Amino acid sequence: MNKPAPKTFHVKSFGCQMNVYDGARMAELLEAEGLSAATGADEADLVVLNTCHIREKAAEKVYSDIGRLRRDDGSSPMIAVAGCVAQAEGAEIPRRAPSVDIVVGPQAYHRLPDLVREAQKGGRGARAVDTDMPAESKFDALPARRRQGPTAFLTVQEGCDKFCTYCVVPYTRGGEVSRPWQAVVDEAKALVDAGAREITLLGQNVNAWEGEDEAGRVQGLGGLIRALDRLPGLDRIRYTTSHPNDMRDDLVNAHKDVASLMPFLHLPVQAGSDRILKAMNRSHTVESYLRQIDRVRAARPDIAISGDFIVGFPGETEEDFAATLALVARVEHAQAFSFKYSPRPGTPAATMGDQVAAEVMDDRLQRLQALLNKQQHDFNQAKLGIRTQVLIERDGKKSGQRIGKSPWLQSVIVEDGPAIGSLVDVDIIAAGPNSLTGAIAS
Ligand code: SAH
Ligand code: SF4
Ligand code: F3S
Repeated sequence: MNKPAPKTFHVKSFGCQMNVYDGARMAELLEAEGLSAATGADEADLVVLNTCHIREKAAEKVYSDIGRLRRDDGSSPMIAVAGCVAQAEGAEIPRRAPSVDIVVGPQAYHRLPDLVREAQKGGRGARAVDTDMPAESKFDALPARRRQGPTAFLTVQEGCDKFCTYCVVPYTRGGEVSRPWQAVVDEAKALVDAGAREITLLGQNVNAWEGEDEAGRVQGLGGLIRALDRLPGLDRIRYTTSHPNDMRDDLVNAHKDVASLMPFLHLPVQAGSDRILKAMNRSHTVESYLRQIDRVRAARPDIAISGDFIVGFPGETEEDFAATLALVARVEHAQAFSFKYSPRPGTPAATMGDQVAAEVMDDRLQRLQALLNKQQHDFNQAKLGIRTQVLIERDGKKSGQRIGKSPWLQSVIVEDGPAIGSLVDVDIIAAGPNSLTGAIAS
């Protein structure tokens, strides 16, 4: 029995910014096929769960979500599992969750319309699985960008060759690939034409981006940023995530010379003990990391530093953890993300001895987050009384209230209702742990 063709869809993204970008592109692809966006998963004929495999909790969430898609009459929508869990688990997913019709990996989602047709044809029980990492680029097969809203993500680099011993990304996303110069410039232009004033360039190791410009000269991310800076209508450029070993001079210098490049750097260090960094295969030391921070601060003294931390990596002692706290104290972060180590199937760290007990991880995470939260609050308070520019992104909770971002990526609440998409001068009149309050400068 053939299944009816879905007319409406809903895409739910669980992961990092690149996963969110992929979700937006899948939505555009389905719209180009004639489907329309449903108001939510309950109303959709096709639900795409765009999953994340980075930690166990994220990966397991997909199964409870699949269960929740069952409707009162016992029916389910057509279900596609996309993203990094799809890549890691493949055909195992429909074995465990038989209501799943389609499994599609992060490098194959341009084939989603074909997979939908395949799933339809086969009738109940048929499954379409595509976790290829094809040589042809999905980007070439996707429809042109058409989005609104003042901020946009743009994937410029994908994959990872670094193989940190805890991490699934090299397996779920494949090796490092840079998108060509012209493809990036064209997509940025299309985003600006569609209303974007700020673009965040994305990559698992975005600062490893490399390509040839129009004149055939080899350029790094700094050169690409300089080219995008020349696009009329693009007011702000950001990039994430960077690796400490790929901070080249051209990028550091761009922070000095390029006004539209925002003073923000997400540069994960993960841990503050050289012994643990070595076991993580991070291929940098505490000292070489701190040297990178010094370089970017010399180029742009007000730059906001952000990072990622893992506590409780196998073998981490109290002394190792104290070294992480000491590193955090030296760097003074504007914000950061911190996680308990989560053993991931197939990664070398998962089978290392000396796994750290859950209570010990809880305690370390709490202590680390207390320090990071205090640093974030201090960073916010240091902006009290200054005048700065805020890009207004969305409505706030109260009527007339809007929320935007400062150059340092802080959320700023503005009471007096500036239009979404406007770049306004505000005076910072209050600074809390998680946001600033601004008044339009008169
Ligand atoms: N490519 C980026 C980020 C990758 S994933 C980078 O190298 O910085 C985002 C963050 O998730 C990582 O920086 C790390 O802090 C965290 N992470 C990755 N694998 C993890 C694991 N197994 N357990 C806990 N946290 C993990
Ligand atoms: Fe994962 Fe390390 Fe690659 Fe980042 S650099 S994606 S943490 S393997
Ligand atoms: Fe998650 Fe994949 Fe991103 S594992 S963090 S969605 S690259």
